[in-house]
Amino acid sequence: SWTTQSVVEESVEAIREQVGTKRAICGLSGGVDSAVAAALVQKAVGSQLTCVYVDHGLMRKGESEQVEKDFVAATGVQLKVVDAERQFLDALEGVSDPEQKRKIIGREFIRVFEKAASEIVAEAGAHGESVEFLVQGTLYPDVVESGGGTGTANIKSHHNVGGLPEDLQFRLIEPLRRLFKDEVRMVGQELGLPEEIVQRQPFPGPGLGIRIVGAVTKERLDLLREADAIAREELSAAGLDREIWQCPVVLLADVRSVGVQGDGRTYGHPVVLRPVSSEDAMTADWSRLPYDVLAKISTRITNEVDEVNRVVLDVTSKPPGTIEWE
Ligand code: XMP
Repeated sequence: SWTTQSVVEESVEAIREQVGTKRAICGLSGGVDSAVAAALVQKAVGSQLTCVYVDHGLMRKGESEQVEKDFVAATGVQLKVVDAERQFLDALEGVSDPEQKRKIIGREFIRVFEKAASEIVAEAGAHGESVEFLVQGTLYPDVVESGGGTGTANIKSHHNVGGLPEDLQFRLIEPLRRLFKDEVRMVGQELGLPEEIVQRQPFPGPGLGIRIVGAVTKERLDLLREADAIAREELSAAGLDREIWQCPVVLLADVRSVGVQGDGRTYGHPVVLRPVSSEDAMTADWSRLPYDVLAKISTRITNEVDEVNRVVLDVTSKPPGTIEWE
């Protein structure tokens, strides 16, 4: 029968066997899944694992610092941080199509991992060796929504499933591939990861890149980062973090509407609040948040974020909507 203890023991055993004496890297995204996958592999093969944190410029405010601090403090894992903002923004320039964005982001991740892998080997003075394995925190729902890794997305290509190049130089380790999010959280707990990591709300690997409807630019990302930080701050202050599954904030960068502020006309962008409740992200309902919390978020965003003059609430369940907009 399924116990978190047996899942941990069996995966650690399987990973040890698979990796042998070779090296592995794991991309950390700041989310629960990659953190738990990394912790499992670290338990199995210790210092043969190096985690790679890719700062792709699509992260939320304060997130990079948090990953570096929390996860390393909790696990003592070896971490390599790569600043890849320019690379990702250049690759995404002018691209509005959601699937194309997801594929580009997936591809750039792999490029960064390949470069990081050769640097790790060189830094270790391990000439002639290479990093054989790439650890990913792929979950069961990611596989299903991406079309089972067949290359054709049923719904959307999760960055770590549908976006992988054919000539991938790594063999994959995906210890969570048969689990749902709540099970992953239990495994994380069993591994002794702190609450802040285990209970963190989901955040997609492609980050804010798939929360800008329209092309991704640094300016738009900065706007969205501000709006998102305000929403998160107010939801936390209202004690709602555990009540909602997550609350994407989406910038409708290609839409403008007329507004008024002071005695002047504005012509800015709307942001969408997408608070949802869910058990496993396969289905979701929109969260009935208290009106006063919504009002506070709306007032603050429109006051504090230049260029955003309207806040709208997404009241669609999944299906027919998905949680993210892209
Ligand atoms: P959707 O939008 O498909 O999202 O209803 C379901 C859950 O998955 C997250 N999500 C992703 N997570 N890589 C990830 O690691 C991705 O490419 C990705 N796309 C969506 C989303 O935030 C939600 O929790």
